[in-house]
Amino acid sequence: MNIKQVEDKNFMRVYKRDALIVKKAKGQYIWDEKGKKYLDFFSGISVCNLGHLNGAVVKAAKKQLDEYAHVSNLYYAPTQIELGQALAQKFGGRVFLANSGAEANECAIKAARKFGHTTGGRYEIIAFENSFHGRTIMTLAATGQKKFHEFLKPLPPKFAFAKFNDISSVKKLINKKTCAVIIELIQGEGGLFTADKHFLNELRNLCDKNNLLLIFDEIQCGVGRTGKFFAFENYGVKPDIITLAKSLANGLPLGAAIACGKAAEIFTYGDHGSTFGGNPVSCAAALAVIKTMTPSFLSKSLQTAKYLRAKLEELKNKYSIVKEIRGMGLMLGVDLNICGKDIVRQCLKKGLIVNCTHETTLRLLPPLIIAKKDVDEAVKILEETLKWQTLKK
Ligand SMILES: Cc1ncc(COP(=O)(O)O)c(C=O)c1O
Repeated sequence: MNIKQVEDKNFMRVYKRDALIVKKAKGQYIWDEKGKKYLDFFSGISVCNLGHLNGAVVKAAKKQLDEYAHVSNLYYAPTQIELGQALAQKFGGRVFLANSGAEANECAIKAARKFGHTTGGRYEIIAFENSFHGRTIMTLAATGQKKFHEFLKPLPPKFAFAKFNDISSVKKLINKKTCAVIIELIQGEGGLFTADKHFLNELRNLCDKNNLLLIFDEIQCGVGRTGKFFAFENYGVKPDIITLAKSLANGLPLGAAIACGKAAEIFTYGDHGSTFGGNPVSCAAALAVIKTMTPSFLSKSLQTAKYLRAKLEELKNKYSIVKEIRGMGLMLGVDLNICGKDIVRQCLKKGLIVNCTHETTLRLLPPLIIAKKDVDEAVKILEETLKWQTLKK
């Protein structure tokens, strides 16, 4: 049996994988089993933001692995404590370390529920249409897309869905039982829609006025992707709780919920926990990520992002199948007026890894280390593919 047959026989059928068998990966490149080289403009869904096998990250993780891999959160692992301090200082608050994005959001939602419980028996949380917050039952309940709710009802109750960037629709949903609002600043899975600055300011004011916790899910858009360490730094609007995961440890599993002000004091001993959360090897990697993402590193990546965006706008002007370029920093969407699956497949054949979300939006999440020459190469392949698709039509 070949690898595809083995997978098909033994795995639950949850992933529809593309025809790429990965042999090795380094920097912005992936090689398949036959030695073919691919330019990776997806970074494992915004995970390897520093590129594959970043030297500082690998060195830090190996050093920790030489000491120990796991000791339990009943004891002190200095690497974990150091990371907690670094994150808490960066955001200003207290941190809970988990393994994944969904778990980071579970922590934030639990904190919101406890906050509501202790401030007048409130429990409703406002989320947004088209959002994505994870695959656990609770985070799916917070996800504003019906396709994820099929066959799972009844879902955990008391999430209400407002329209993204529409403050009046949020106002309409607030009632005596509302305790929090959860939002992605850029809806990644939902098609690369970006929150408006004015809307986010109004949302912050609305939460303050009604004593609601404001939670930013920066699991996909955080950790440098927008040219700032936290995406909210582009807005000047700070949440009460932020959730991070994906690229926090640049390829090793790690999630974090960081809370400030009153939100930092919600939990007490025993309220929450995780066996693996804050694994020391992942924490060592995350410390290296934080040290590497200096302001000058991030501003360089923003220059590349501007260059990429300008090139994509040129493609939009040339090819009528491109409707819109969306997103921020190196989290960009190319919205098409056709299904994007064939384009993704064709790009792959030509050695470029991109993704398609919401049927029609090509999602570009290149590692932040790419140079202009990588942009030129990617745009060349994208253009050839758009041309091919246009002729096919
Ligand atoms: C915005 C957002 N929140 C939460 C998640 C869930 O993260 P994980 O898959 O690590 O559980 C994702 C994953 O794609 C995401 O994009």
